[in-house]
Amino acid sequence: MGARFAGKVVLVTGGSSGIGRETARAFAAEGATVVVAGRDEQRLAATVKEIGGDAVTVDVTNPADVARMVETVVARHGGLDVAVNNAGILGSPAPAADLDEDGFGAVLATNVTGTWLCLKHEVAHMRAHGGGAIVNIASNIGAHGRLPNMAAYAASKAAVSALTRTAARDHIAEGVRINAVSPGATDTEMSRRPGETDADRAERLKGAIPLGRVGATAEVAAAVLWLASGEAAFTVGHDLVVDGGATA
Ligand SMILES: NC(=O)c1ccc[n+]([C@@H]2O[C@H](COP(=O)([O-])OP(=O)(O)OC[C@H]3O[C@@H](n4cnc5c(N)ncnc54)[C@H](OP(=O)(O)O)[C@@H]3O)[C@@H](O)[C@H]2O)c1
Repeated sequence: MGARFAGKVVLVTGGSSGIGRETARAFAAEGATVVVAGRDEQRLAATVKEIGGDAVTVDVTNPADVARMVETVVARHGGLDVAVNNAGILGSPAPAADLDEDGFGAVLATNVTGTWLCLKHEVAHMRAHGGGAIVNIASNIGAHGRLPNMAAYAASKAAVSALTRTAARDHIAEGVRINAVSPGATDTEMSRRPGETDADRAERLKGAIPLGRVGATAEVAAAVLWLASGEAAFTVGHDLVVDGGATA
């Protein structure tokens, strides 16, 4: 336990489960005031009970909600220093041509438009108040086509990586440093097919991950914290792949 983020206000969208919750926990352990955001009030409350901090409900696909989320964080905690845009959905896997318009649209609305809306309002605050750091959660699948039936998700995550690079250049001179983390298969509900056990998942992914296992949420969180920290002050528009060598 250190104090790399003492005195800092950190927002984590999708902070009520999986990678987001572990990231929120890691920031809190490093002294930050952490605000977790998501749609499910009960899961948010359970997270706050466990790690402390605060919670704001938000649907990242809703522009007014996202504006209110950032306003609420600033009003309650006096600012916003770090934001982790982690909220995302997988959608229903299907071959690309068999996806329906609603399903494809929902994945893009959450993962792409949602990430952009959050970034838009976070940057607006940060550039007017001395800067900040933003880390978007993309995925290694944005850079490869090896997992079947993932066209919508892969397209959305490639877009998050592209958004990160371009936004990073747009806003670094304003003091807002933007990067991404691209996890590979990580030990959360999202990486598990319906009814799949840990052993089933390990068997399915066998051969795809040179390290021979899925990632731990703490391993993704460590990458996020480094990118958000002063140690990464010269790192801008980077997409840090944390995938056990899957895309090496
Ligand atoms: N697990 C993996 O293998 C893996 C690999 C690469 C990338 N990722 C990415 O990592 C991020 C976290 O995934 P995870 O594995 O931790 O999945 P998870 O446990 O399902 O977490 C997703 C989080 O996003 C929130 N969320 C979803 N839609 C939302 C919306 N419209 N508005 C606000 N919050 C929303 C969920 O909360 P509510 O449902 O309560 O809103 C939840 O807290 C995602 O962006 C995912 O694509 C995961």
